Amino acid sequence: GIVATGTLAACSASQPAGTPTAFGTPTADPTTPGQRVTTAKLIAKRATLDLGGPEVGTWAYGDTAPGPLIRATAGDLVRVTLDNQLPADTSIHWHGIALANAADGVPGMTQDPIRPSTTFTYEFVAPDPGTYFYHPHSGVQLDRGLYAALIVDDPQEPGGYDLEYVVVLDDWVDGTGRTPDDVLTQLIAKGGSATSGGMGGMGGMDHGSMGMGGGAAPFGDAGDVQYPHYLINGRVPAAPDVLAAKPGQRVRLRVINAASDTIFTVALGGHRMTVTHSDGFPVQPTETGAFYIGMGERYDTVVTLKDGVFPLVAAPFGKQGQALALVRTGAGAAPPATLRPDELAGPVLLGTTLVAAESARLAQRDAEATEVIQLNGQMAPYQWGINGGPFGENEPIVITKGERVHLDLANMTMMTHPFHIHGHTFGLLSSGLRKDTVLLRPMETIAVELQADNAGDWAAHCHNIYHAEAGMMIGLNYR
Ligand code: C2O
Ligand code: CU
Repeated sequence: GIVATGTLAACSASQPAGTPTAFGTPTADPTTPGQRVTTAKLIAKRATLDLGGPEVGTWAYGDTAPGPLIRATAGDLVRVTLDNQLPADTSIHWHGIALANAADGVPGMTQDPIRPSTTFTYEFVAPDPGTYFYHPHSGVQLDRGLYAALIVDDPQEPGGYDLEYVVVLDDWVDGTGRTPDDVLTQLIAKGGSATSGGMGGMGGMDHGSMGMGGGAAPFGDAGDVQYPHYLINGRVPAAPDVLAAKPGQRVRLRVINAASDTIFTVALGGHRMTVTHSDGFPVQPTETGAFYIGMGERYDTVVTLKDGVFPLVAAPFGKQGQALALVRTGAGAAPPATLRPDELAGPVLLGTTLVAAESARLAQRDAEATEVIQLNGQMAPYQWGINGGPFGENEPIVITKGERVHLDLANMTMMTHPFHIHGHTFGLLSSGLRKDTVLLRPMETIAVELQADNAGDWAAHCHNIYHAEAGMMIGLNYR
C-alpha cells in the first residue's frame, strides 16, 4: 500500500485526532498598528471541472483549477481560512514564501493534518514580492487540481509593463479513470511505468528532436507518467485560455509550473521574451525565445506584443502533447495546434544559467557549515530517497540558526529532479541566482548557500510529487 513507503501520509497518520501536539499556532507576530491584511477563504472540495471539452470529476479549491488567485502586497499579513470539505485530511503549503514555520503547511512537521469537515486558518507575513503558488502537502493531492497562484506585489516596483498574465501549467492525470493515488500505487507496483501512452519512464522518449540549438538534450528521463492532457490555466489546447491585449503593450507573463511530473518548454510564437524573475526574485534581464520550467519553478518574463494572434505554447519535455494559450492583439487566424516551442523559438534557456540581479544576492559571507543533500533512487523498483533512505528513515539535517550554510545538492540518479527547499530562497554559488526550486540534471551537483535566519523544521524535497511521496524528502531542522 501507499503508506508503506515511509511518506507524508504515514507521517501525518502518526498524529491521532485531538492529541495535543507541540506544533505552534500559524499566527503571525502580534499585529502591528497599520499592518495591512490580505484575507481569503478557500473551500477544498469535490468538483466537476470543464477543461475546455473534457469534463473531469476531481478535487479543487472551489469549482476551478487553478483555484482562486491570492494577491497580496509585500509585508502584508496574509490570513487564509481553509474549509476542508474533502473526504481526506489536507493542508496548504505556501510554496516559495519565507514565512513563519508554523504556517508552512506540512502535516507531521509543522502542523496536524486538517481533518475533513474542519477549518484551519493560516496566518503569515509575506516578506518578499514575487510569483508563488499554493498547494496541499498531503500525499499526491496536488495532482488532483488543488493548486493556485499566489502573487505578492512590490509596493516599490515601478512596473515597466502594461498588463500581466498569470500562466499556470499542469499535467492532468484525471480523465483516464485513475486518480493520482492510483498512479502512485501503479508506479510503486510496476517500478515506474504508470504511463497511459505506452512509453515507460526509462526511455522511449525522442530527446534528440528537442532542438536545443544543436546541443545535447539537457535532461534525463522526462517523467514517470504520460498524461492525457496538458493544461494552461485549466484549459486543454482545443479551447485555450486567451489573453486579449493591444499591439505594442508590454505584458508580464508570470509562469508557474504546477504540474506534478512534467518539465515544460515555454515559448510565445513570434516573440522573444525577457526573463526578469526566477522563483520570485529578480535576475539580470535575459532575452530568449523559450525557456525550461521544472515542477515548482516560476519564471516571469516581459514581452512587447506584436499585432495578431500568437500561440503561447508549453511543451511537456520528452512527452507527447502540448499545453496552449493564445495571445490575441488583433485579427488573424489561430495558429496550428501542433507547434513546439523549439520550432517557434530556437535555443531554449536553462534557468540555472541566469544570473541574480544585484538586489537579489545574499550578502557576501563565508560559510560556517557545509551539508550535502544526495538524491538517490531509481524507477525500478520505484524507490526514491535522500541521503541513503526515504523520508522517515533518513536523518534530518541539523542547521544552527543564524549560520551561513553551504549546501551541495547532488543528484546521484539518472533522472532530472526539481529540488525544493521550504522557507528560504537559496543562492547558487556560481551566479548568486536566488531559487527555491532548482532543476538538478542526472548526476549533477549544484552548490548553493542558504542563510539560516528562518527558524523551524523545514521540508526539502523533489517537487516531482510522486518522488516526494515515495520518500525523496528530508528535514532541515534548526537548532
Ligand atoms: Cu511546493 Cu514542499 O512543496
Ligand atoms: Cu524527483
